[in-house]
Order: sequence, then structure tokens, then C-alpha cells
Amino acid sequence: MRKQIAAANWKMNLTVDKAETLLNDILSANVTLHEDQLAVFAVPSPYLQMAQQKTTAEDYFIAAQNCYSKKSGAFTGEVSVEMLQSLNIKYVVLGHSERREIFLESNAFLAEKLNLVLEYNITPIFCCGEPLSIREAQTQNDYVAKQLEESLFHFSADDVQKIVIAYEPIWAIGTGKTATSEQAQEMHAYLRKVLTGKYGRDVAENISILYGGSVKASNAKEIFSQQDVDGGLVGGASLIADEFITIIKSLK
Ligand code: PGA
Repeated sequence: MRKQIAAANWKMNLTVDKAETLLNDILSANVTLHEDQLAVFAVPSPYLQMAQQKTTAEDYFIAAQNCYSKKSGAFTGEVSVEMLQSLNIKYVVLGHSERREIFLESNAFLAEKLNLVLEYNITPIFCCGEPLSIREAQTQNDYVAKQLEESLFHFSADDVQKIVIAYEPIWAIGTGKTATSEQAQEMHAYLRKVLTGKYGRDVAENISILYGGSVKASNAKEIFSQQDVDGGLVGGASLIADEFITIIKSLK
């Protein structure tokens, strides 16, 4: 059965004291998760170790927000998969639209990162999603399918099931403009269909597809209740303890 996941994406926010307080506040709420549910916190790199040490509860995990495509070497400023593994980090967000748009990460480059991350047994949360112009032209299905094809479709059926997908329409990120639950379900069902076409139904049914883009306490339950939506990747609302606690509790 695929996992239902509440993933926080702190992005480049919070000082260490605030990060610690936020994590303490959320963890001390002790929200009990069912066997098929988990919570993940994608924290800024300098806080990975602190967050990892604090997060001892089963089913609560720390994630990196990015990593590089090479194992080690002269890549000033980058974070390696080996470093993440040495900190016992189990998740990493890859291909967030901010990485794609600001740092020009391509589907092919992300495929290289995914190869390395899986080699190290770290679970990638692979983000996809279309910009507003593509949604307005109603070509979002082809656009997002291509992101999957070019970054994921070289994997075997066994390996592709180790990947978590996050669908994040760029026009809904940080804008307060959430996709309606119908729009989210429609795209998630489509992505599952694309995965089914390549890998078959059993494999596609095993892959968690999170929704991201202005998820908050007040809309999480409705969005997560959609059949093909397996939780969310949450930016702004994950910086407020009560909001994120409610979001975790909204998992189906
Ligand atoms: P948001 O960000 O929840 O602030 O819209 C989501 C994301 O970028 O992952």
C-alpha cells in the first residue's frame, strides 16, 4: 500500500533557534501516525544534523532540500548524497520548481541526481508541475508527463517505486492560489495513468503522489481526501506549528 505523506518544505527560512522551536513544537504534539502514514521535514542543510538528532519518533523523517549529481569533489557549495547518508538522512527533495526555474535544473540533470540518490538508498521526493502559461494553454498534461519521462522512465519497475512524486503546479506555489481538489485529482490520476502505461497498474498504484501549492490547515483534508492524492508537500504553512500539525492530522 502506498504511503500517505505530509512533507514540510522549509525552503530558505528560519534561523537555527526558530527552526529548533518549530520542530520541537510539532514533534511534541505527538501526532500518532498509522502504519502507512509519515511526516517529513525538508530543512535547510545547516540544520540537517540538529533536526535529525531531534527526530527520533518512528514515521517522522528529515529530508534535505537538494543534493548534487556527483559523489564528491570540487563542487563548492554543493551537498553530496554521501554527506546525507553519513547523517542518516533518508529523504531528499529533488527538482523543486524553484531549483528548476532559478537554478535552471533540467529533466536530464535531475535524472542524474535521481540515479545517485537511489544508489545510496535515499528516497527522492521528485517534484514536477507546470508554469501558469502552460496551464493557460491547457498543455499541462504533456508538460508534466515529459518531466516524468525524461527524469524517471529509465528506471526499472523496482526502482521507480522507490520514488515519491510531488505534483506542484507553479502557479499555486506561494501564491495562495491552490489548485482545486478536482484539478489536483485530475492531474494525479493522469500521472498515475502515465506511470501505468510505462510500468503497469500494480507499480503505479504503489507510488505516492503528493500535491503541493498553497496547502494549508484549512484545505489539506479536502485535497488529501482525493483518491490519487497521497498527502502534500507544504511550504508556507509548514512554518507554523499548528498549521502543520493539522496538516499531518489531515492525512488519509
Ligand atoms: P507553498 O509551497 O505551500 O508555500 O505554496 C509549496 C512548495 O513550494 O513546496
